[in-house]
Amino acid sequence: MLIIDNKKSLSKIIKKHRSEGNKISLIPTMGNLHQGHQELFASAPDGTIKISSIYVNPLQFNNSDDYDYYPRTLHDDLDVCKKNHIDILYVPDGDISHEIEIENSIDLPKFTRYLCGQTREDHFLGVYKIVKHLFKTIQPDFACFGKKDYQQLLLIKYIAKTYFSNLEIIEVDTVRSNNIALSSRLKRLNNESLEKIKIIYDVLLNMRNQMFDGNDFADIKKDALLEIECHDIRVEYLEHRENDTLELANGQLINSSLFIAYTAENIRLIDNIQI
Ligand code: PAF
Repeated sequence: MLIIDNKKSLSKIIKKHRSEGNKISLIPTMGNLHQGHQELFASAPDGTIKISSIYVNPLQFNNSDDYDYYPRTLHDDLDVCKKNHIDILYVPDGDISHEIEIENSIDLPKFTRYLCGQTREDHFLGVYKIVKHLFKTIQPDFACFGKKDYQQLLLIKYIAKTYFSNLEIIEVDTVRSNNIALSSRLKRLNNESLEKIKIIYDVLLNMRNQMFDGNDFADIKKDALLEIECHDIRVEYLEHRENDTLELANGQLINSSLFIAYTAENIRLIDNIQI
């Protein structure tokens, strides 16, 4: 595995691979690699040059504590990348925000203002900037992203469709352990909280069943919130929205999902299930 820490060397090696007719898959990450990331790595098509990046992007953090305490485990991550047959790992040295060229005015799609966009100011703008920068620099043929960050996935599909028409986005199912959607932030929870948040997925599944039985979302939500919040979990949002636009689903079950953001021990987590 080749480890690269600067854009110049990265562009050079990509040029070489392109000239040899190789296709490229990109798996961008912020490190602290877990089984969810390994699923992303495994989804990159065989026969392509697999490039991953590890970069905790300051532009997408609206909370400096969250950025400062974001788990950084580069030493272990290198082993995970090697074991998963990553060919090139891009680990920028320091903050690369200054390298990112951006248009004067960025008009993000409306769906970025819902769900996480309501409270995480500029988060999606930060994701947009770094992901577009990586796509521009690496020009991948394929890029893999997880459905756990569903709103991010929609934004990435928007970036690909608008600016990189030859890029195929590979959508990867959420990986769960003990029902909990894997996330790097779980590292910051104690065992007691890890036990408590197992309930989230059960509640979502139960809500889905009740919706199939014709119950009203508002009523189901009331009960779900009571059940979750008595486990010391604070719910930031619990919403039923359309999959493509993230507009409120208003009782329409087809092509919709349940989305939740919650905090346990002050650590914010998200999850979703398709109806
Ligand atoms: O999902 C993530 O880990 C990050 O948001 C991403 C896509 C790597 C951009 O920094």
